[in-house]
Amino acid sequence: MADKTGKKGIGIIGYGGFGEFIRQAWDGMDNARVAAICDADSSRNPGDGIAFYTNIDEMLADANVDIVSIATPPSSHKEIAIQTLRAGKHALIEKPLALSMKDAEEIKRVADGRQSLRLSEIRKRRNWHYLAFDFQTQRA
Ligand SMILES: NC(=O)c1ccc[n+]([C@@H]2O[C@H](COP(=O)([O-])OP(=O)(O)OC[C@H]3O[C@@H](n4cnc5c(N)ncnc54)[C@H](O)[C@@H]3O)[C@@H](O)[C@H]2O)c1
Repeated sequence: MADKTGKKGIGIIGYGGFGEFIRQAWDGMDNARVAAICDADSSRNPGDGIAFYTNIDEMLADANVDIVSIATPPSSHKEIAIQTLRAGKHALIEKPLALSMKDAEEIKRVADGRQSLRLSEIRKRRNWHYLAFDFQTQRA
């Protein structure tokens, strides 16, 4: 849910090296704020007052989270992306979207069944292989 200033709430799943990096990026945006962080490893809790979860379902139940930024290892992307979409949250997945076309298509199928949700993937444009994997939907 957007806060009083209209900023969308971001929930980061996976707070390793890249999770920390994207938190800074989200915090630098005018229209978003990091509302919660989830990492299976409790030692990754930044301990600065932000809501922290070790359980993904608990973070997905947090009404302050509108968009989930997934920065876990690639082998977990499919499961977490589908879990996120089924919980009614938008999903932004770090590259690679999934480990196989089959898994990527499965994620897309779940997103397609939820017309109000947006699924986006961060991808490398310098590598032409990634250009074939256009799973970003245009629905808002
Ligand atoms: N867009 C880019 O340029 C870019 C750059 C670097 C990494 N990445 C991507 O970011 C992702 C993370 O990379 P990283 O280097 O930060 O990895 P990392 O191993 O440093 O961090 C991953 C974190 O996810 C947590 N985690 C793992 N499974 C989890 C689960 N089921 N629930 C909750 N937390 C879980 C781990 O405890 C760990 O803290 C990868 O997909 C990687 O490819 C993208």
